Amino acid sequence: MDVSEAVARRISVRAFLERPVPGEIIHRVIAEAARAPSGGNLQPWHIDIVAGEAMARFRAMMKDVLAEHPRGEPEREYSVYPPDLTPPYSDRRFDVGETMYATMGIVREDKKARGAWFRRNADFFGAPMALFCTVDRQMGPPQWSDLGMYLQTVMLLLQAEGVSTCAQEYWSAYPRAVGKFLGTPPERMLFTGIAIGYADPDHPANTHRAHRAALADFATFHGV
Ligand SMILES: Cc1cc2nc3c(=O)[nH]c(=O)nc-3n(C[C@H](O)[C@H](O)[C@H](O)COP(=O)(O)O)c2cc1C
Repeated sequence: MDVSEAVARRISVRAFLERPVPGEIIHRVIAEAARAPSGGNLQPWHIDIVAGEAMARFRAMMKDVLAEHPRGEPEREYSVYPPDLTPPYSDRRFDVGETMYATMGIVREDKKARGAWFRRNADFFGAPMALFCTVDRQMGPPQWSDLGMYLQTVMLLLQAEGVSTCAQEYWSAYPRAVGKFLGTPPERMLFTGIAIGYADPDHPANTHRAHRAALADFATFHGV
């Protein structure tokens, strides 16, 4: 698979098969992705992978955590979105939610079904493996963008192996539980999780294709 094909094929998969991802694949991909560029070559990414017996323990822990904090822990380490998100960004966020739920036949008024679907984040949408990315608290926006480069490289390399992913900032609502489980030192904070596994080809969620803005809405070509 060439890079263009991997880019085109990668989507956020939200229903996975139980089939485990071979440890050899994730070891290789996590190492290879470290060729991702970073400003000053800081390589600010720290990665934890959870699978197998550790995933079983993680899921058991989350049962208790969710019972106590169904809507996230009281202290969040960062806001996922700006508090007063404005158009066109707010429209795009609305659109992806609406089209996603429509794909699964969940109407806007059905808050219960929407809530139940959202909570599937806590189960990694059934994925057998997860990645967590943490970053040293001294890092700022430029280094956080480096994390994105690393993580997209991981997702594309996994895609090339036929392995699907869904990035999950959802986990930023559970920094304490995740940090305790992973043993993250206090100087580091959790950025995101990523669900990793083989896509369930029969699940309607995986037929969803998120829209993209028109080229002219985000790119200006000067002299080309
Ligand atoms: C950093 C990051 C965090 C995300 N967090 C979540 C999440 O918590 N739950 C979820 O279902 N999707 C999450 N997504 C997936 C986005 O909704 C998705 O990438 C976007 O709608 C575009 O769709 P696509 O990935 O299928 O192209 C996240 C994506 C990124 C890059």
